[in-house]
Amino acid sequence: MNIEIKNMTKIYPRGKKKALSGVSMTIGEGIFGLIGRNGAGKTTLMRILATIMEASEGEVLFDGKELMANKDEFRAQLGYLPQSTKLMPQLNIVEFLDYVCVMKGIKDKTERQTRIASAIETVGLVGEEKKRLHSYSGGMLRRAGIAQVLIGDPRVLIIDEPTTGLDPEERLYFLNLLSKIAHGRTIIFSTHITADIEHLCRNICVLESGEVRYLGDKASFIDRVRGQMWEHRGSAREEELLRRESVVTSVTYVDGSPCVRYAAPSPLTPASQSVSPTLEDAYIYALGGVKR
Ligand SMILES: Nc1ncnc2c1ncn2[C@@H]1O[C@H](COP(=O)(O)OP(=O)(O)OP(=O)(O)O)[C@@H](O)[C@H]1O
Ligand SMILES: [Mg+2]
Repeated sequence: MNIEIKNMTKIYPRGKKKALSGVSMTIGEGIFGLIGRNGAGKTTLMRILATIMEASEGEVLFDGKELMANKDEFRAQLGYLPQSTKLMPQLNIVEFLDYVCVMKGIKDKTERQTRIASAIETVGLVGEEKKRLHSYSGGMLRRAGIAQVLIGDPRVLIIDEPTTGLDPEERLYFLNLLSKIAHGRTIIFSTHITADIEHLCRNICVLESGEVRYLGDKASFIDRVRGQMWEHRGSAREEELLRRESVVTSVTYVDGSPCVRYAAPSPLTPASQSVSPTLEDAYIYALGGVKR
């Protein structure tokens, strides 16, 4: 499915500033990564796309059709997993998914059983069927959430910060799961970690303070700082200079001395070495540099 967002703005009734401001983008099939810091507007954008909330201005089209005017048609093809979901803790996964099937109006019991078994298999929860959901780990709950949205075989998945709080192993498992179910679907997922989008998505959007800072493919994003990234190891005084004169993308301390990665058209200190840009460099650069 093709989703087109045109000039979207959102002002919350009691909001002090615009949560989204003139946001435009087109999202096609595959995994699309929405990345931004806390408060960037990721959840706001996703809630509008999930038809839970209306934008203050702008338009959303899915396959050329206006979203809100065709809300039911869109919802029938949508799986939305909010940032914090409370599944039903007293149920086990089979009972929970059966409930989801019933709510979706799937009356035939055999049909429900087939769909449930297939969803459990896809998300790797085979063998965990008897446990109640309250005893599931964070990662298992996230997978149960995916099973829940897969029940309806959606063409669009909107998943808000699914990797937050997962341990490294669960995080990787979850990211692989997304790529496994991506075929033929449009998956929009948000994160504040560049590592999440490193291998998963080709197209990304960087949001900051409600505005699009970058939109396009990941490779071109990194190319924006290619040939302009330097690393300098030195004193705190030099760190100050680099913070003033360039865009610093990271500072780490080695034996008490700062090691500064920065973007500038040419090296700013004699000790600077040219380094290959990483996705993280490009991201921090797009946000205007590291915070103190
Ligand atoms: N219900 C609300 N009323 C007023 N302001 C809100 C409301 N929800 C969000 N905001 C504001 O809108 C902006 C965007 O918030 P949003 O939750 O969309 O960001 P986010 O990128 O999802 O952040 P996070 O990474 O913390 O989830 C923030 O400034 C936030 O304070
Ligand atoms: Mg959010």
